[in-house]
Amino acid sequence: MRRILIAGNWKMNLIDNIAPVIESADKNNIDVLVIPPFVYLERIAIMTSGSKVFVGAQNMYFQEKGPFTGETSPLFLKELKINHVLLGHSERRHIFKETDEEISLKMQKCLSLGMTPILCVGETEAERMSNRHKVIVENQLKIALGGIENNLKNIIIAYEPVWAIGTGNTATPNDAEEMHLFIREQISSIFGRKISSEMVILYGGSVNDENIKDLLRKDNIDGALIGGASLKGEKFAAVIEIAGKTNI
Ligand code: PGA
Repeated sequence: MRRILIAGNWKMNLIDNIAPVIESADKNNIDVLVIPPFVYLERIAIMTSGSKVFVGAQNMYFQEKGPFTGETSPLFLKELKINHVLLGHSERRHIFKETDEEISLKMQKCLSLGMTPILCVGETEAERMSNRHKVIVENQLKIALGGIENNLKNIIIAYEPVWAIGTGNTATPNDAEEMHLFIREQISSIFGRKISSEMVILYGGSVNDENIKDLLRKDNIDGALIGGASLKGEKFAAVIEIAGKTNI
């Protein structure tokens, strides 16, 4: 049985008020994750300790230590007891030119240290327009998951069409579900049916308190990765409430 996960990716921002998020996470039977900027990880971990809110990181490097100016070692994250790490977010891929091969190395390192990667995949607008969205996502999955043999249960996938991120143009529930089903089939062909049926697949791209319900009604959408709407505590809490009710 897959648990619903609502994750807030704060990117290079801070939430206005975390109190409502903690409150709704504690009373709803779903998983809630906040993903602050690195320098605030420890503070947010302290603020949420004793609550049901998980705290995750937005990225990590695939080496543990050395001359890598500006990078963050996965060991530092472990020291802070961070379990979830976003990998391959489209902003990392497109703005910072991260390659599928680097993402694959990060996936392997993250899993080998017993942490849970949230692997982001998704096509650009041009790729969808030219009907290449499935090939693109299939390729991203194949490379990122290529060298992985252990801790498969820990992997979470986030399908985030690039054209839907921060634009207000969310995918329709049917279009999102079509891709989630496709991703589940790909996972099945790589890791087998059992792993695939247990894997949590999130949708991301302009999710908010108005569209979350219809997305979560779909069989293969297990939660959401939310940017903009996770920055206002009340709004994010409203999403958690709705997800909690959908789960009953
Ligand atoms: P958005 O961002 O909800 O603001 O579209 C989602 C994401 O980038 O993870």
